[in-house]
Amino acid sequence: MNHDETIKYYQMRAGEYDKVYSRDNPGRQEELAELYSLSRGTLKGRHILDLACGTGFWTRLISEEAASIVGVDINQATLVEAEKKTYHCPVRFIQADVFHTPFNAGEFDGLLLTYLLSHLKRQDIDPLAQKIRNIIKPGSPAFVCDNNLVCEIEPDLIWDDDHINSYKIRRLENGNEYRILKNYFEKDELIEIFRTWGMIEKLSFGTYYWSAILKVQ
Ligand SMILES: C[S@@+](CC[C@H](N)C(=O)[O-])C[C@H]1O[C@@H](n2cnc3c(N)ncnc32)[C@H](O)[C@@H]1O
Repeated sequence: MNHDETIKYYQMRAGEYDKVYSRDNPGRQEELAELYSLSRGTLKGRHILDLACGTGFWTRLISEEAASIVGVDINQATLVEAEKKTYHCPVRFIQADVFHTPFNAGEFDGLLLTYLLSHLKRQDIDPLAQKIRNIIKPGSPAFVCDNNLVCEIEPDLIWDDDHINSYKIRRLENGNEYRILKNYFEKDELIEIFRTWGMIEKLSFGTYYWSAILKVQ
């Protein structure tokens, strides 16, 4: 299920990852500010599962409003970065694969899922939805967001033989290159995907990012 090179890339990128959120682009910053506010409002007062929490950038944001958060990531290096941050509610981190988490049914009443969907194979998204529905209390809110394909700045995508999943080359600051799994979704596909997660309460598309507020069921 995992794409090893993508996971390795995030392991090696951990120390420089948060710079992605301070890119000097007013359009991006404006859209991100909307996402920050939307996610905080959606998950206010909740016991949150932050799946693929990475360096804890969103964990910290959400902690300003949440009751508690458990962050899960497969990479220890990203969790080391996450542990360095200060949080405003009880937070703990667990190193695990999102497909094999150690949680009980109904343990959380909110889900945060930022920038993971694009790094999953399309055929793995439904199995993840099943896991999520087992862990998150029915009727709880989920905030999901990810990148749009911005043609002017994205290099050509590399498709697999069946033209199902796409990949791209990403370069770290030290010049090392990785071929990472990166899928992009149009609105119709997201509506189809989220059908199995529960109810879509809001689906928004900006230039750079899309976001969804769901009621998990
Ligand atoms: C683009 S980063 C997003 C991090 C964080 N959610 C954010 O928005 O800043 C993707 C993260 O997913 C993690 N990841 C990828 N596949 C995973 C898996 N199968 N299980 C757990 N974490 C995974 C990577 O280690 C990386 O930290």
